[in-house]
Amino acid sequence: MIDVKDVTFSYAGAARPALDGVSLAVAEGDFLGIIGPSGAGKSTLMYAMNGVVPHYHQGEFYGEVRLAGADTHETSLTDLSHTVATVFQDVDAQMVAAEVEDEVLFGLENFGVPHDEIPARVDEALALVGISDLRERAIASLSGGQKQKVALAAVLALRPRVLVLDEPTGALDPASSRQVFSLLADLNERSGITVVVVEQKIGLLAEYARRLAVLDEGRLAYCGERREVLAHADDLLRIGVNVPRATTLSCMLRDEGFPVGRLACNVDEAQELIEGIVA
Ligand SMILES: Nc1ncnc2c1ncn2[C@@H]1O[C@H](COP(=O)(O)OP(=O)(O)O)[C@@H](O)[C@H]1O
Ligand SMILES: [Mg+2]
Repeated sequence: MIDVKDVTFSYAGAARPALDGVSLAVAEGDFLGIIGPSGAGKSTLMYAMNGVVPHYHQGEFYGEVRLAGADTHETSLTDLSHTVATVFQDVDAQMVAAEVEDEVLFGLENFGVPHDEIPARVDEALALVGISDLRERAIASLSGGQKQKVALAAVLALRPRVLVLDEPTGALDPASSRQVFSLLADLNERSGITVVVVEQKIGLLAEYARRLAVLDEGRLAYCGERREVLAHADDLLRIGVNVPRATTLSCMLRDEGFPVGRLACNVDEAQELIEGIVA
């Protein structure tokens, strides 16, 4: 669905590239988490996937990105937006309307969706993220978690095949963060939407993402099935990525020679693992 081939990108005037020879493929229906320390190039990689780089941010672009077969360099942002929807880091800046319903409507109108289809699409999108009851609320009166859901509903109304999100839980408390991820997992499983999410909270990625990509100073350090990637706990810590404690513990047990078949990604799995070893 997304094919990033040997992409190197430097923002205009920057001393070093923000992305340096990055190649990775995201299959249709995948759920990919992108992680790495601040400045590693996570947002830039996301922009390369949705065409914001190089269409909006100018600079030196080498390599190729294909989105559902289309070369992003040669396809307009408008055309790309029929395939990929984006929730940017600053949700407040992304909102254009004063009320929830209008926010969802606006995108549909802008997209040229026939007028008689719009009410049903608004209903569907609000129901999909579980905020039908917020329909007439002023966006300014909503909590961070609720705003995040409105931003999601507004892009889901466009029925994208790919959804990319930049740190969607950055401003949220743990409970709302989990809600957002469980919603993404649901959309991914039920509607088959391909999800790419930049996230700092490794615990959430370890639980919900199928695959993980780790960026380190613009280079792709790891990309693979989440447990395979988390198995490199020591190196991830060196890069500046915190690994869930359950995983660190499993790595320690593994390194001590205990039979660790599958690394634990959360507390329940760690308990299972330890009980297995004790037995
Ligand atoms: N608009 C920009 N202009 C110039 N340099 C930028 C711009 N945005 C990001 N950068 C630089 O590119 C690198 C990667 O940034 P970014 O992709 O935002 O990293 P992350 O999202 O992982 O924090 C950093 O060195 C950052 O300073
Ligand atoms: Mg960023």
